[in-house]
Amino acid sequence: MIKKVLLIFGTRPEAIKMASIFHTLKHNNLFNVKICITGQHKEMLEQVLNLFGITPDYNLNLMQSNQTLESLTSNILLSLKSVLLDFLPDIVLVHGDTTTTMASSLACFYHKIKVGHVEAGLRTNNKYSPWPEEINRKITANIADFHFCPTAAAKKNLLNEGYKENLYITGNTVIDSLLLIQQKIYNDENLKNKLSGKFDFIDKNKKLILVTGHRRENFGLGISSICYALEELSNRNDVQIVYPVHLNPNIQNPVKEILQECKNIFLLYPQEYLDFVYLMINSYLILTDSGGIQEEASAIGKPVLVMRDTTERPEAIEAGIAKLIGTHKKDIIENVIKLLDNKAEYEYMSQIKNIYGDGTSSIQIQNILLEHL
Ligand code: UD1
Ligand code: UDP
Repeated sequence: MIKKVLLIFGTRPEAIKMASIFHTLKHNNLFNVKICITGQHKEMLEQVLNLFGITPDYNLNLMQSNQTLESLTSNILLSLKSVLLDFLPDIVLVHGDTTTTMASSLACFYHKIKVGHVEAGLRTNNKYSPWPEEINRKITANIADFHFCPTAAAKKNLLNEGYKENLYITGNTVIDSLLLIQQKIYNDENLKNKLSGKFDFIDKNKKLILVTGHRRENFGLGISSICYALEELSNRNDVQIVYPVHLNPNIQNPVKEILQECKNIFLLYPQEYLDFVYLMINSYLILTDSGGIQEEASAIGKPVLVMRDTTERPEAIEAGIAKLIGTHKKDIIENVIKLLDNKAEYEYMSQIKNIYGDGTSSIQIQNILLEHL
């Protein structure tokens, strides 16, 4: 019997990480798969949907400027009811740890609909870091019927919390998307030329430092201290800093205020995923507080300095290719300079490690669903 699967997501990283699952299930006639986007993100989500050729079946269109966690959570809960009752899915797949993930899982629970949690089991065990993601994923785990863990460590976290059934190690679907896009770039000379033209302001004689940052726990002091570190680093004439700035006004405002006038720093609009992958491939090192980028960098051999106090992705740190450096100006500067000036350290951190998947995660998730639904 054909199984009805509803994918619910709302933000840029969820879309990047659910795109390959959607296409895998869509090509299998044992599934009737539909997509509901909450619209927690708007422009940044649309960029991904366009790239991966995804047209949502339902769009809750919920984003508000500078939205609060309370309003977003309650709006998702209220709006999802009609979607769930309309499609009556056999299972809903949610991803990771956003407000969309947590509130959608809760909505499914209220309607006694099964939930499959993709990217399950990540933990810092610090309630406020990342905030609110740590609690979002714990609530989702409580509700989920299937836990698709990217790594053995993630599965172990769930076992330690007493979860026993339907725990699967599948790798992370972000690697499926990354490898697909990377191949697209490598195999298409026209595309490569187009991208090189778009980024012709990048000086190939300088080391490219690619920066992103958006975490709520870094709002205020964290983000301004990151900016002051970048300002100082931009004085070195062997580097160039490229920073696609997240659209959250709590990020946009301080970043523009502090860095707008810096000659050697390029503040960009959030980049379409394909363009961002091109930037990652061409970077010397990546400075970020993003979860997904920590995973991607390991697969393309770029050192990542993680501007956070905690990470739920210990694998890259243990493998020696990522470093947790916090958000203090002095620590950021010292760690960047070490990678710029110490060749041995740089080469050690530039190894490619397949710790988050091999590009087959979506197929593995499909096969588990086929077996168990
Ligand atoms: C959200 C997730 C976070 C995830 C991140 C990925 C929550 C609580 N946070 O954080 O876990 O890592 O997405 O980027 O779920 N905005 C726009 N256009 C967009 C997107 C955002 O203008 O396309 C602005 C809006 O003013 C919006 C604000 O950014 O209100 C915040 O968006 P929100 O999704 O609440 O938080 P993020 O910081 O993006
Ligand atoms: N990304 C992108 N464009 C950008 C910055 C990031 O496509 O300008 C991609 C990045 O490659 C990764 C994902 O977005 O796959 C990470 O999203 P984000 O940092 O917003 O969220 P997080 O991973 O921290 O949840």
